[in-house]
Amino acid sequence: MHTDTILVTGGAGFIGSNFIQHHLASGRPRRVINLDKLTYAGNPLNLEGVSQDERYTFIHGDICDREAVRRLLLEQHPAAILHFAAESHVDRSIHGPSAFIQTNVVGTSCLLEEARAYWSELAAQERDRFRFLHVSTDEVYGSLQSDDPAFTETTRYSPNSPYSASKAASDHLVRAYHHTYGLPTLTTNCSNNYGPFQFPEKLIPLVILNALKGKPIPVYGDGANIRDWLYVIDHCEAIQAVLERGNIGATYNIGGGNERTNLEIVRTICSLLDELRPNDPIVPHENLITFVKDRPGHDRRYAMNAAKIESEIGWRPRETFETGIRKTINWYLANEGWVEQVTSGSYRQWMASQYSL
Ligand code: NAD
Ligand code: DAU
Repeated sequence: MHTDTILVTGGAGFIGSNFIQHHLASGRPRRVINLDKLTYAGNPLNLEGVSQDERYTFIHGDICDREAVRRLLLEQHPAAILHFAAESHVDRSIHGPSAFIQTNVVGTSCLLEEARAYWSELAAQERDRFRFLHVSTDEVYGSLQSDDPAFTETTRYSPNSPYSASKAASDHLVRAYHHTYGLPTLTTNCSNNYGPFQFPEKLIPLVILNALKGKPIPVYGDGANIRDWLYVIDHCEAIQAVLERGNIGATYNIGGGNERTNLEIVRTICSLLDELRPNDPIVPHENLITFVKDRPGHDRRYAMNAAKIESEIGWRPRETFETGIRKTINWYLANEGWVEQVTSGSYRQWMASQYSL
């Protein structure tokens, strides 16, 4: 086993690519192997900045392909697996749940099986050091009323969408592999991320890009649904901290402590764009807000209690929503080439089928 090697699954996506770049930039002496299927959400351009780094290796493959995963583990000998790969968009899970069951449930079970086989053959000391870190979501806990306390690690699972149900199933599998086989697992459940490299099917980048182009900004239902927003680099730091200091078998909630209604998010972005882009086609950008049909089964509120990760591991977010959103908007303004690339082709088809605006 190479103690300096980690395997990241889904590292060409939004959070995985931020994690890899942040990890390599932090100077840790680790090699990073990125196993990614390159679905519509995976983009090699996200990793252009590290593609020449000799510590970084990309492997094109599917976590459901057990043979390929087995070979990769034997050849690369990682000391940890960080499992980000997933189908991640709730609206797509409503249109077509099968891909979510396949990757999030079957794929996670394939990865766990191969990880268990690999781990059980390691020498005793290496077995003790090995970790399987599963990246999950706050959505597994279901929806909160406005006066409910925030989710803790002991909140009952109550997933409401095909996406969250598939993530809940994967969390249960990870738990079972620890409980039954002793696989040294760690699970993180995080709230909504935003930041550079997020595919613009998700609320924040979609709002930024539509606003810049003078296109309608679709707000589902009454816009009063609440999410707890976390800047993606804060999430990456939390994952790194859990990997290094988390208790085996434990789960950790990660949140930004930034509860906002969707309408507040949209208005904040619009007013920042009024300041940064006063000559855009439609100013004030807020005039573009368009209320559209609600998402079926739309969860009303998520909020994370992150006291456990703070007290046990010492992690706390660095960014406020105000600092993080400004950085994010500036990144999208500065990266027109990336935006151009991701908003061509299949993105247009998705936007046309999802929004009849
Ligand atoms: P994303 O959709 O941007 O990226 C997913 C990546 O996984 C893509 O690169 C894709 O090509 C890859 N992938 C998909 N199926 C695969 C397969 N079968 N084999 C190999 N690779 C595959 O997702 P994201 O937003 O970066 O989320 C990463 C993880 O974090 C997911 O597990 C998600 O559930 C979780 N999460 C996301 C958020 C959020 O706000 N985005 C919050 C909490 C947790
Ligand atoms: O909570 C963590 C989860 O956050 C992750 O597990 C998911 O992978 C990630 O996609 C995200 O899920 P959400 O459904 O909360 O994110 P999304 O950006 O799709 O939507 C955020 C909120 O904005 C939600 O209440 C729906 C609303 N929305 C979304 C879109 C795309 C709109 O009002 N209009 C839109 O066009």
